[in-house]
Amino acid sequence: MTAFDRNLKIAPSILSADFAAFGAEVRAIEAQGADWVHVDVMDGHFVPNITFGPQLVRAIRPHVTTVMDVHLMIAPVDPYIDAFADAGADILTAHVEAGPHIHRTLQAIRGAGMKAGVALNPGTPAEAVAPLLDDVDLVLAMTVNPGFGGQKFLHPMLDKIAALRAMIGNREIHLEVDGGVDTATAPLVAQAGADALVAGSAVFRGGSVETASVYGENIAAIRAAAQG
Ligand code: DX5
Ligand code: ZN
Repeated sequence: MTAFDRNLKIAPSILSADFAAFGAEVRAIEAQGADWVHVDVMDGHFVPNITFGPQLVRAIRPHVTTVMDVHLMIAPVDPYIDAFADAGADILTAHVEAGPHIHRTLQAIRGAGMKAGVALNPGTPAEAVAPLLDDVDLVLAMTVNPGFGGQKFLHPMLDKIAALRAMIGNREIHLEVDGGVDTATAPLVAQAGADALVAGSAVFRGGSVETASVYGENIAAIRAAAQG
């Protein structure tokens, strides 16, 4: 990964991609301006949906030239950290709600050579990450309840995003927002202080690997909206 910067990053979530064509989809979104590639891992236990695991992350890896941003919606996390490191994740994000020992989990993620992220469900207050700020490279604020793409953005989360941004201060920690980000909500989260915007349906909507310029138009529109 390159040096830390707080510039706006658009991270398309491949949850909204064609699951039969992940390699081509990843290449398409990167060619069309994606800054990071957001990879949603779900276990049918922590969230009510199942996607894929480390083997698929490993299969996608050679197609990613930017940053592979892996969002774990699984519990437990610790038994799988080494598998995701071997699979080539750059950032590995675990939910603070996923187990009783998030501090140990974050240290293990860094210990395995990855950047460590901590994610917060909508019902979890910003204060939950205050004791963890020395142990994270990224804080992910969910703006929908995790599990599915295409849900409606939860506006009450904007105050939490602003509180997280204030808490982060000058630390080299990214503030990522995930869920319901589109051209209408991107300006709100950027204004509240987010620097990494995950967008699934708003990026992939209307396009395909054959019509990838649509992805480019969608990414550009979200970026322009966020930058005001
Ligand atoms: C939700 C996932 C998100 C999801 C976002 O559980 O973590 O990354 O793909 O999808 P949209 O942008 O459609 O809300
Ligand atoms: Zn996600």
